[in-house]
Amino acid sequence: MSRIVLGVSGGVAAYKAALLLRAFTEAGHDVRVVPTPAALHFVGAATFEALSGNPVTTDVWSDVDEVAHVRIGQTADLVVVAPATADLLARAATGRADDLLTATLLTAHCPVVFVPAMHTEMWLHPATQDNVATLRRRGAVVLPPAVGRLTGPDSGPGRLPEPADVAALAAVVLESGAAALAQDLAGRRVVISAGGTREPLDPVRYLGNRSSGKQGWALARVAAARGADVVLVAANVELPAPFGVRVVPVGTAEELRTAMHAEAGSGGGAMADVLVMSAAVADFRPASVAGAKMKKDSAGEPDSVPLVRNADVLAELVAGRRPGQLVVGFAAETGDAEADVLTHARAKLTRKGCDLLVVNDVSAGQVFGKEDNSVVVLAADGAADEIGPGPKDLIAAGIWTTIAARLTPA
Ligand code: CTP
Repeated sequence: MSRIVLGVSGGVAAYKAALLLRAFTEAGHDVRVVPTPAALHFVGAATFEALSGNPVTTDVWSDVDEVAHVRIGQTADLVVVAPATADLLARAATGRADDLLTATLLTAHCPVVFVPAMHTEMWLHPATQDNVATLRRRGAVVLPPAVGRLTGPDSGPGRLPEPADVAALAAVVLESGAAALAQDLAGRRVVISAGGTREPLDPVRYLGNRSSGKQGWALARVAAARGADVVLVAANVELPAPFGVRVVPVGTAEELRTAMHAEAGSGGGAMADVLVMSAAVADFRPASVAGAKMKKDSAGEPDSVPLVRNADVLAELVAGRRPGQLVVGFAAETGDAEADVLTHARAKLTRKGCDLLVVNDVSAGQVFGKEDNSVVVLAADGAADEIGPGPKDLIAAGIWTTIAARLTPA
């Protein structure tokens, strides 16, 4: 259990802070909510008190004997300010201490995550952008806002990311520190495939696999938080799109192949700096797709389904790689009588020719659909980084650190 301070400043998105608080308490954390006085215009103190089980005050004149304005910050393991308004960012950047939240920010030794939410004009204003740069330079995490519907009819960058995204990213910072969400992918374009392809047999049946897409989702979410422009080519994943990410839905291996080539820049579009093939792509598809549903009694007992080979998308992306473009493959491996997991993986890395191979040991069936994972990232030059075990967002942060270190300077 960790001690999390949830700062809430005065914007309409304050209502989402209640859901974020819920996510933190359900993960077993002790949460102290510190709203600004303006935040209480949007959500009452009683809501935060009931959901956190802790007292809620906004000024430094309550519980003076406890020296709350110093103690709350000093004893926290993580401070998350969501929503962080333009005014709150300005006060934090200039070191003001005119309410309990800003005083807490000045006394906190732990990592601090600001989750901005405001109108697009306010976010893009040079004053706000300077404040964000100042806070980041001092080591705070400032998440990029989501793009979408704002208060009233407006839409654009400035929306608070969904609480589930914020909770997952906050957990990464709690575990690994603010550096895990550094802006080292700013200005980079990354394309990630995720999920598992489905190869149709007839209008209702398909050959598929058990990939949930969760690791690919975590890779996309963390890359967006680290400043990247992210495209997620998603094969049959029902999860809500992570904030800041453009999702391109696909079904079959052939559709995934077309989308990956288009997004990689080989079709003349913007070149991707990083291509990550985390999708489970079917190696084979039925040779023909029945136009009508196959009836069990129409053709007697079928004894086989003829299959044909699908293109190896990863190998094609490697072959078409542009200068400076990094191609990352995934491999689910088991050890066998001939060799252990890493020996098989090294052989695959050489065979595929990609720059990095993220290796999952699936011997015990522990990866598919599970929340936790652990991987080894093998590099063509022989390096091997062990990451995890831990939640998939933590694994994603480790994978991006390995990738970012290998990007050619922008
Ligand atoms: N991949 C691909 N196109 C395919 C099949 C796989 O791009 N048609 C990619 C996957 O996204 C992953 C990597 O290749 O990044 C996995 O390698 P692969 O050799 O397909 O793994 P296995 O199917 O496990 O191979 P093998 O049976 O040879 O171990």
